[in-house]
Amino acid sequence: YRIAVFASGQGSNFQNLVDWANDGKLGAEIALLVCNKAQAPVVERARKAGIDCLLFDPKAYASRGEYETEIAAELANRGIDLIVLAGYMLLLTPVLVDLYAGRMINIHPSLLPSFPGVNAIGQAWNYGVKVTGVTVHLVDGGMDSGAVIAQQVVHIDEDDSIQSLEDKIHTAESELYPKVVSWFAKGRVHISGRKITVEHGI
Ligand code: GRF
Repeated sequence: YRIAVFASGQGSNFQNLVDWANDGKLGAEIALLVCNKAQAPVVERARKAGIDCLLFDPKAYASRGEYETEIAAELANRGIDLIVLAGYMLLLTPVLVDLYAGRMINIHPSLLPSFPGVNAIGQAWNYGVKVTGVTVHLVDGGMDSGAVIAQQVVHIDEDDSIQSLEDKIHTAESELYPKVVSWFAKGRVHISGRKITVEHGI
């Protein structure tokens, strides 16, 4: 089972997935990193891990669809089964969304549908909610709007700061995302419209 991770930034989720794969816990191979920023720390992480990196500069193309067509060809060449978005800061077009419908997932640092879009942790902090968390969802054409696969709750306590909240959220991401990827690799995820079920205990 072969995975492509799309990321634009720090790559802590990318690193965590690579670590799980190397420990044999993911049940899948991270076959490719796709990245739109040559200077992003995630690129160096891929180099160190010996994982191929497909770098592209969106400004060199007339449209998003154009570079996504090139990416799609690379994914097909490498037999990619699942696209895992991990801090990929570009919206996707139907070129990839339709091609990988039901086979492309994202992680978002809130309990969707609360606080979609950028700075979700700050949005939740400023709103003053007592409970937030992380969501893994299918990717559709919208912003953080695809069907929910799994969520993990994070409590905001009175002694939390925005920084300690960020730490808790990132810990929750590092626990939940590889688990969900491993469910896909084992064929345990069943999709029926917005109702997604996961077979456990098999
Ligand atoms: C994570 O918080 C994720 O939820 C969001 O983007 C961030 C990526 O962080 N989609 P990193 O690049 O994995 O460190």
